[in-house]
Amino acid sequence: MAYPPKGILQTEALQQYIYETSGYPRENVQLKGIREATVKLCGERSVMTVPVDEGQFLSMLMKIMNAKNTLEIGVFTGYSLLATALALPEDGKVTAIDKDLEAYEVGLPFIREAGVENKIEFIHSDAGSFLSEMLSKDKPPEFDFAFVDADKPAYKKYHEQLLKLVRVGGIIAYDNTLWFGLVAKEEHEVPEHLMDTTRAFLEFNHFLSSDPRVEISQLSIGDGVTLCRRLK
Ligand SMILES: C[S@@+](CC[C@H](N)C(=O)[O-])C[C@H]1O[C@@H](n2cnc3c(N)ncnc32)[C@H](O)[C@@H]1O
Repeated sequence: MAYPPKGILQTEALQQYIYETSGYPRENVQLKGIREATVKLCGERSVMTVPVDEGQFLSMLMKIMNAKNTLEIGVFTGYSLLATALALPEDGKVTAIDKDLEAYEVGLPFIREAGVENKIEFIHSDAGSFLSEMLSKDKPPEFDFAFVDADKPAYKKYHEQLLKLVRVGGIIAYDNTLWFGLVAKEEHEVPEHLMDTTRAFLEFNHFLSSDPRVEISQLSIGDGVTLCRRLK
């Protein structure tokens, strides 16, 4: 898929400054390994990997929250997953769902090398079906944190499911909510192949702005991350 160039939320120079000053110098060696392997093996699709500063943010957030049981929807080659697994305590667990096993296998050697495979349960499945399956249990699991980074038009559906799986006070983080800055463009400026997803984000962002079940914070890190803290 052809995406617009990265760094659209900040100027290229500022983005580069962030990466080079606080991002890359502190990037874990196996995270760097995943990033490089992804560029090498996945070509243009490597743009899907979360950027270094977003990985650091997610890691810090999980530590501040003392998150122990987390969920990830959309693993790809495992960058955000490894950042999560590294941030969790030794007895923490991340349940990670993706329908693409081949991509996960690109990052798996680095996850193993980092010594955190024991904290990961990888679920090779469609995310919506797996969330429904968890919800159908007598006692569904309860998560402290969920990171959502797959199938953008399905975010609204995931939101309803996640509000039953993430504990009150827990956080759901939605990635790409500023969608390369296209949510703030005039319709005629949006490339045709990105139009449906742009509309889905406009609708989803609008919906979240008045959802009384969550407190929200829209961050302009990466491609835009919306944090939702469950209130009820
Ligand atoms: C943007 S990438 C995830 C990037 C990842 N968080 C990272 O840091 O590298 C989106 C992933 O979602 C997966 N995906 C898309 N639709 C899905 C679905 N319905 N169920 C499960 N996974 C899905 C794709 O296979 C892809 O690997």
